[in-house]
Amino acid sequence: MGAEQGLVAVVTGAGGGIGSRTAELFAGRGARVIVADIAPEAGERTVEAIIAAGGQAFYQPLDVRRPESFAALAEAAVERYGRIDVLHNNAAATHLYEGDSHAVEIDPELWDRIFEINLRGVMLGCKYVLPQMVRQGGGSIVNMSSTRAAGGALGLAAYGASKAGVEALTRYVATAYGRHGVRCNAVRPGLIRTAQSAALHDDGGEGLGRVLKHVLLPYAGTPDDIAELVYFLGTPASRYITAQTIPVDGGMLAHQPFHADELAASLG
Ligand SMILES: NC(=O)c1ccc[n+]([C@@H]2O[C@H](COP(=O)([O-])OP(=O)(O)OC[C@H]3O[C@@H](n4cnc5c(N)ncnc54)[C@H](O)[C@@H]3O)[C@@H](O)[C@H]2O)c1
Repeated sequence: MGAEQGLVAVVTGAGGGIGSRTAELFAGRGARVIVADIAPEAGERTVEAIIAAGGQAFYQPLDVRRPESFAALAEAAVERYGRIDVLHNNAAATHLYEGDSHAVEIDPELWDRIFEINLRGVMLGCKYVLPQMVRQGGGSIVNMSSTRAAGGALGLAAYGASKAGVEALTRYVATAYGRHGVRCNAVRPGLIRTAQSAALHDDGGEGLGRVLKHVLLPYAGTPDDIAELVYFLGTPASRYITAQTIPVDGGMLAHQPFHADELAASLG
């Protein structure tokens, strides 16, 4: 039996592209998974896939904007599985990309709605799960960021700023709860092929190419690439890693800004 056998993991936004894959990967390696999402059909689909593969999971309705929804999740998880070892705060307002532009253009109401889900929702997840982790002597929180937190662009200012807040909150949680045995890290994905990233980049191939030419590897990432890191950070294999933001972006932010032009020139 591996050390990770018997882990109890909560995955928020587990009905979505990356979250569902992560929930499946945890369950496939012996964890019992709470599949939490605002969309019941998507959440149930993830649970069905896990159970069909011989894993254990249940769907818990969750709206990350509502404190009572997180309180109910923490209670249900402990009632059913006895503890919470991993909280993966993955849900985000990917449905609010439209209209998320720069400071002059953006509707302040939309700014608040995006922050409410992307940043306040992560804080609420920590607020309602941390007491259980402290009671049981430890746990691991893995928050989802984005390369948008680290570099400016012409759009998605609220999304990017809220994800930068997630990275800062990660360090605050890790600092305050480290002595209770709770670790808190963030994963910062780059271009990952999902339905939501396709909506952003797949404008006949051109949009995707614009991003891919800045990736050092010759391909985009997949939900599995993210799920593997979330799993590692959730398990005792990463027991001495906390307060970190770890990029999974094919090296997209690691080179000089003129690298893509130099590469194109060298290829003729
Ligand atoms: N796909 C990428 O290329 C990429 C890149 C960087 C970061 N990310 C991050 O990865 C995470 C997952 O992204 P994805 O591509 O799977 O997106 P997705 O849209 O497929 O999944 C998001 C999930 O969150 C759920 N959700 C939305 N609002 C909610 C709420 N109020 N309460 C509970 N659940 C809610 C949705 O129902 C959905 O299932 C997000 O945090 C996203 O910002 C993705």
